[in-house]
Amino acid sequence: MDNCIILAGGQGKRMKSDMPKPMFKVLGEPMLEWVISACENAGLKNICIVKGFKGEVIDEYLNGRYETVMQAERLGTGHAVMQAVPFLEKNSDGDLGNTLVLCGDAPFIDSNTISESLALHKEHNNSVTVITSELDNPFGYGRIIRDNENNIKITGIVEEKDASQNQKSIKEVNSGAYWFKTDDLIKLIKNLKNDNSQNEYYLTDTVALAVEAGMNAGAYKSSNPDVILGANDRKGLLQLNTKARMNIIEKHLENGVEFTCLDGITIERNVKIGTNTEILSGTILRGNTVIGENCKIGPNCVIENCKIGDEVNLNYVQAFKSEIEKGVKIGPWVHIRPNSLIKSGVKIGDFVEIKNSTVGEKTAIAHLTYVGDSDVGKKVNFGCGTVTVNYDGIVKSRCVIGDNCFIGCNTNLIAPVNLGKGVYTAAGTTITRDVPDYSLAIDRGVMKIKEGYTLRKLKGKI
Ligand code: UD1
Ligand code: CA
Repeated sequence: MDNCIILAGGQGKRMKSDMPKPMFKVLGEPMLEWVISACENAGLKNICIVKGFKGEVIDEYLNGRYETVMQAERLGTGHAVMQAVPFLEKNSDGDLGNTLVLCGDAPFIDSNTISESLALHKEHNNSVTVITSELDNPFGYGRIIRDNENNIKITGIVEEKDASQNQKSIKEVNSGAYWFKTDDLIKLIKNLKNDNSQNEYYLTDTVALAVEAGMNAGAYKSSNPDVILGANDRKGLLQLNTKARMNIIEKHLENGVEFTCLDGITIERNVKIGTNTEILSGTILRGNTVIGENCKIGPNCVIENCKIGDEVNLNYVQAFKSEIEKGVKIGPWVHIRPNSLIKSGVKIGDFVEIKNSTVGEKTAIAHLTYVGDSDVGKKVNFGCGTVTVNYDGIVKSRCVIGDNCFIGCNTNLIAPVNLGKGVYTAAGTTITRDVPDYSLAIDRGVMKIKEGYTLRKLKGKI
């Protein structure tokens, strides 16, 4: 079986942060996650991640998903791979297996590049195949050395800091991603020396060592220079975010999604949007959100891990881990908290919060209302200022509200409580007991009027 080693031990000093660099996010996901998903999409399951600086942050994030090894000291990319030798020996697969090495801080490596470079690696019977690309400005990257330009074989990689003036003019650079024959990688990595300007064990030196040992070394030149891009500082990270953001928006444009202005719009890469839906400014779509056709989302919405049907209209809405069915209209200034199901045709207006509740078809919750831990039926009308009182300070309890109920303004429903079908509650009522079908619940003191009261009180003042 083929393996993958992801190098994620570096600190990234220029980030000026306590977080390991591969954990910095591009469109809401750590760069490391982008790299892992490229491997997974290419069918690689045997993954080992080399952690180092703040390795515990990486462990916590991975939560046991993949094997990790610790690189206690940062002595270079070759030294990082040395830490994974036991993993390689365990998974070497005789002389058949190959191992991909990737950088955890170069998020745009993709599964196509991984698969195509493996095919070339096998076809040329290479011991090492470097994934390369040509850059107009190759500064800072390792340069690819070939005997002559047309040679399919390469003879080495020279780091910027060790390169001669001539070598610095080479535009073909090392992406930091390579395929190795697993057995040959184990042999080569043991022979690395650190006799270079940075006194590091360079993984790149395995190329010259392979050639010396009579093995084949080649390059897979990608036509997409983005596969090389990494972030060395915050500015670089912003550039990666900008690039990823535009790539994703362009994909949605091609699919028939409408954007008239991109201000403040961020869409994470796993979000799906149906045709003819319009996304308005200030809208952030996160996680595995799926949005139907002919919707209008925005301005100013944050939608995370939600399933949204067709013809939904959300305006100034924040919604998390919930489902909103066809034809629902919500906003402005509405908070839909996790585990809510808003059924088709519902209308929800300003300053409403829904949490862990089901709201039945065509129910209207027009303003200033909290519905938490509740099961609400169809065609219910909530008056302004209704509160489900779901928490007594110790436990949370549920409210059940039957179909066609009419909840008067400023009703408090003290959970657990059950309203039957077609129940009316009078404005200002506090419901403390279950109410049977088709009843009116009213709970009010007798209103008194004291005539002339303020005249006496304000005597001489008005
Ligand atoms: C490396 C390559 C360079 C290539 C570039 C592509 C070497 C010597 N050079 O340079 O040819 O063009 O990547 O981006 O390999 N890491 C560890 N432990 C370490 C050092 C690094 O785990 O001791 C990890 C880092 O977290 C990072 C990756 O290895 O994910 C690359 O390290 P970095 O220091 O960024 O290498 P570059 O100098 O950019
Ligand atoms: Ca780098």
